[in-house]
Amino acid sequence: MKVGIIGCGNISQIYFTNSKKLSAIDLVACSDLDMEKAQGKAEEHEVEAITLEEMYSHSEIQLIINLTIPAAHYEVGKHCLENGKHVYSEKPFTMTVFEAKELNDLAKSKGLRIGSAPDTFLGGSHQACRRIIEDGYLGTITNGFAFMTCGGHESWHPAPEFYYQPGGGPLWDMGPYYITALINMLGPVKTVQAIGNIAQQHRTCTSESRHGDTIEVNVTTHYTANLQFANDAVITLITSFDVVAGPKLPNIVLNGTEASLQIPDPNGFGGEIKLGNRETGQQTYPVLYKNCDNARTLGVADMADAIENNRPHRCSAELVTHVVEVMESIDKAVETATLIKLETTCKQPAIMPVTKLNGSFE
Ligand SMILES: NC(=O)c1ccc[n+]([C@@H]2O[C@H](COP(=O)([O-])OP(=O)(O)OC[C@H]3O[C@@H](n4cnc5c(N)ncnc54)[C@H](O)[C@@H]3O)[C@@H](O)[C@H]2O)c1
Repeated sequence: MKVGIIGCGNISQIYFTNSKKLSAIDLVACSDLDMEKAQGKAEEHEVEAITLEEMYSHSEIQLIINLTIPAAHYEVGKHCLENGKHVYSEKPFTMTVFEAKELNDLAKSKGLRIGSAPDTFLGGSHQACRRIIEDGYLGTITNGFAFMTCGGHESWHPAPEFYYQPGGGPLWDMGPYYITALINMLGPVKTVQAIGNIAQQHRTCTSESRHGDTIEVNVTTHYTANLQFANDAVITLITSFDVVAGPKLPNIVLNGTEASLQIPDPNGFGGEIKLGNRETGQQTYPVLYKNCDNARTLGVADMADAIENNRPHRCSAELVTHVVEVMESIDKAVETATLIKLETTCKQPAIMPVTKLNGSFE
């Protein structure tokens, strides 16, 4: 399937590189509001740089990868769909459930598909965790915790402003990885409770290119949320940009009646898994799948392959809409100090076949 990229910033590099390795997609063109950026990427990766209008009206491109900033995901996604293109967006899919539903309705009315990052749960380590759970090693999962703590992206990102505007912050920026990984393993969420705060109203960049620049903060920067899943498991999720030099905390731990599972960073495809029961204690569990490298774009290839073969894709509209509702509900819970019941739901994405985990979409 011929695809194009809109948004040629920081994260686009891995999409340009990995698109060449995935036979389900053929990346032919790229575009950006800033055409110099598009031109640079086009030359480096031997594709065509075209204007946004040319991208939307391109006669051969069927799917557009939307790698713009969060505030533009909805608008760019809507243009793609209105122009008859399937769209796969970087995370967060949209900034509100209202926007997500509108895009879903538009896609349905046009017979088009929507997908969104993250696709890291398709990696070897997370799929191995899913298999461990499905094989019953943990018994019934009743509780767990997940931690995403860091000091904020102004330490490295060349344009970090968007991380402190709606659609950014530790929940909307990093939450999609954690919430999607949890849904992959546990199924949908039914209720959330949460509290949060803001450590500083202004932050100072420490990256080399922006050293000393000040950024205004318009989002919650520390959240403690409790998610109750439809299967009754209770998971505590902490996401924070206010941990300046904290200890290394586990990314995700799930506790069952028979065993506990330590799951690696959901912002990656690989990483060490630890599994333990009362007799063994925690032990490293060997990940035998090869697909553990940075395979961002796999979700796009899965979507293109699914369209060709008329099967559901894994980074699906219903999954990403549910993830947006979980985050929106956490924000609502912080504002109102109440328990929020979710309205959307989703199925667990289909487990990846072992042949795909050991190869690619060749
Ligand atoms: N940087 C990372 O490590 C990283 C990792 C994973 C996901 N993401 C996600 O990827 C997305 C992009 O992040 P980034 O770091 O590449 O940002 P960036 O600011 O480096 O790049 C975004 C690009 O989108 C362009 N753009 C903005 N609005 C546009 C519009 N309406 N139409 C066309 N082009 C537009 C900008 O000109 C810019 O070139 C974000 O949603 C982010 O959360 C980033």
